[in-house]
Amino acid sequence: MADLSTKFLSLNLKNPLVVSSSPLCAESAYLRQVEDAGAAAIVLHSLFEEQILNESKELDKQLWNTSDVSAESLSYYPDFKTYNIGPSQYVEYVSKAKQAVKIPIIASLNGYSNGGWIKYAQEIEKAGADALELNTYFVPSDVTKTGAEIEKMYLDLVRAVTASVKIPVAVKISPFFSSVGNIALELSKAGARGIVMFNRFYQPDIDLEELEVKPKLTFSRSDELRLRLHWTAALVDKVKADIAITGGVHKAEDVIKSMMVGAKVAMMTSALLQQGPRHLKEVETDLQSWLEKHEYESIAQMQGSLSRSKVTHPAAFDRANYMKELKSYRS
Ligand SMILES: Cc1cc2nc3c(=O)[nH]c(=O)nc-3n(C[C@H](O)[C@H](O)[C@H](O)COP(=O)(O)O)c2cc1C
Repeated sequence: MADLSTKFLSLNLKNPLVVSSSPLCAESAYLRQVEDAGAAAIVLHSLFEEQILNESKELDKQLWNTSDVSAESLSYYPDFKTYNIGPSQYVEYVSKAKQAVKIPIIASLNGYSNGGWIKYAQEIEKAGADALELNTYFVPSDVTKTGAEIEKMYLDLVRAVTASVKIPVAVKISPFFSSVGNIALELSKAGARGIVMFNRFYQPDIDLEELEVKPKLTFSRSDELRLRLHWTAALVDKVKADIAITGGVHKAEDVIKSMMVGAKVAMMTSALLQQGPRHLKEVETDLQSWLEKHEYESIAQMQGSLSRSKVTHPAAFDRANYMKELKSYRS
């Protein structure tokens, strides 16, 4: 049997299969199911910044003080009283989750500014979380804000949170930066022990009958993985933080590719929402068979073997490849 173990955020994991954040993680029965099916760690559903602000009665103030927010647009915010649990209940749930399973629990804070996060990061640590994931999901609709200002906001946030807790902190980022490699590097320098690549943004759709903008959540497909593979391969030897891949991991082949470019873990949500927790068992079995068939002794042996600095033609990751691909279409 090949050794599937890996290390992420200083946590020793039995394999690289991590369940990423989704509302299903709010059920302790689900946590037990994914553990039984072979998950090595779980990222809990997020505690949203809006929930923290809501509790401290600041959300209303912030929204009403913003000139381009109408009363109607407030209706787009979920009712946090019924939609999700509040911050104190979230902290309680972290300790419940720790009791429910033996595998590491990574709590998740989702937001973009500094407000209230330190307190909850510390409470989450006290509740027993093994690590914390910060999901920096910010839609920069204020066009006067520069990229540098937004990056500073993220870096300040990461510095503040990492300075206030001892547990390792990973940051989940989007690919939409002018220099995604540089922000990963800076986040790592700011104290992030892991970079989780990449957030999927959920753009609304237009309902042509109702002439309305409607939220539309779509599940990922395996081909979304390539963006993650590309950037992991490019960054793994340059950034100290561990890299986790999220987005497009559906089958064992996706996990193998993720490991080969240098990721420490491959996270899954869409595949589990579509196929149920047992799907993890299938992925683990296929992963084990693939390693044995191709005579790998361990995951560690393949990790980073196809990173940008290890491949024979690093140009395959660059503009040269872009030109080649476009030209290959005609020929
Ligand atoms: C229904 C649903 C709910 C999600 N909720 C969260 C969340 O609360 N916090 C978070 O950081 N990511 C959340 N995500 C994003 C996932 O954790 C994951 O990063 C993303 O779906 C890409 O992975 P996948 O291709 O395996 O689905 C959610 C995704 C889905 C589909």
